[in-house]
Amino acid sequence: MNETTLFETIGKRKSVRKYDMNPLPENLQQQIRDAAGELCPLNPGIKTEIHFLSEGAVKGLLTIKAPHYLLFFSEESPESLLNAGFMLQQMDLHLSSLELGACWLGMAKPTKGFTDVSALPFVIALSVGMPAEQVHRQHQTDFQRKPLADMVTGSDHEALVAAARLAPSATNSQPWRFQTTPDAIHVFRMKPGMMKAWLYDRMNQVDIGIALCHLWLAAKAEGYQPRLVNEDDMAIPEGQLYVKTVKLEAVDSPVLNV
Ligand SMILES: Cc1cc2nc3c(=O)[nH]c(=O)nc-3n(C[C@H](O)[C@H](O)[C@H](O)COP(=O)(O)O)c2cc1C
Repeated sequence: MNETTLFETIGKRKSVRKYDMNPLPENLQQQIRDAAGELCPLNPGIKTEIHFLSEGAVKGLLTIKAPHYLLFFSEESPESLLNAGFMLQQMDLHLSSLELGACWLGMAKPTKGFTDVSALPFVIALSVGMPAEQVHRQHQTDFQRKPLADMVTGSDHEALVAAARLAPSATNSQPWRFQTTPDAIHVFRMKPGMMKAWLYDRMNQVDIGIALCHLWLAAKAEGYQPRLVNEDDMAIPEGQLYVKTVKLEAVDSPVLNV
């Protein structure tokens, strides 16, 4: 999987909900299984498994009929949902770069017979298949997203937050907020209201993992060596939760030996 290609796909990807129901050729299926083994984790300490399964493997509200599904399983940890978003978004972009369709399925559950493919808890799924609709957006203006000014404070690294703005999110809720400084981007999440928390609290953590994946790819494309860290003592804006900081260091900055 090429990170530059993944970055270039951010500007054209879309959710694909209509599929040719024929199974993908075996070589493509193998390519997908291989790519699943190459995803970069946000937190390598969290045990995860990805299974590539066929039609009928998932059910649930808003679940889409597709010839294949990628099911993500993860050990539980405070960062397991962020990590799921971060890892599977690399796959969403990779599939789109291969002109294959994919869509996140937040309400899907494995069907009977597929519940025990992993000993780890199930987290989320992606539908996968040959698209039976347009696979890419033609223009960036085709993305339905809030204006950048509504989600960013600070004037640094506009290209990076612009890439994060295009991230997909459950019901397109776009719960991310960013504070940029010359050497870092602090990432926050809108606190869901009491009524929405039962539905959105988990999904919005996956959404932030997806946005972090876009920030990370964009930072690498701009020549940075991004490090995802937790800062202490962050001033947290009203109604938001602090999630992570992307530290930006130039790859070729001199290493000081002191
Ligand atoms: C965590 C998550 C869960 C989602 N769940 C569903 C779903 O269950 N069904 C569906 O049709 N789309 C689902 N979506 C797709 C979003 O509706 C879609 O990403 C959003 O509307 C933006 O559109 P785009 O992906 O075409 O840019 C989900 C997206 C995310 C990130």
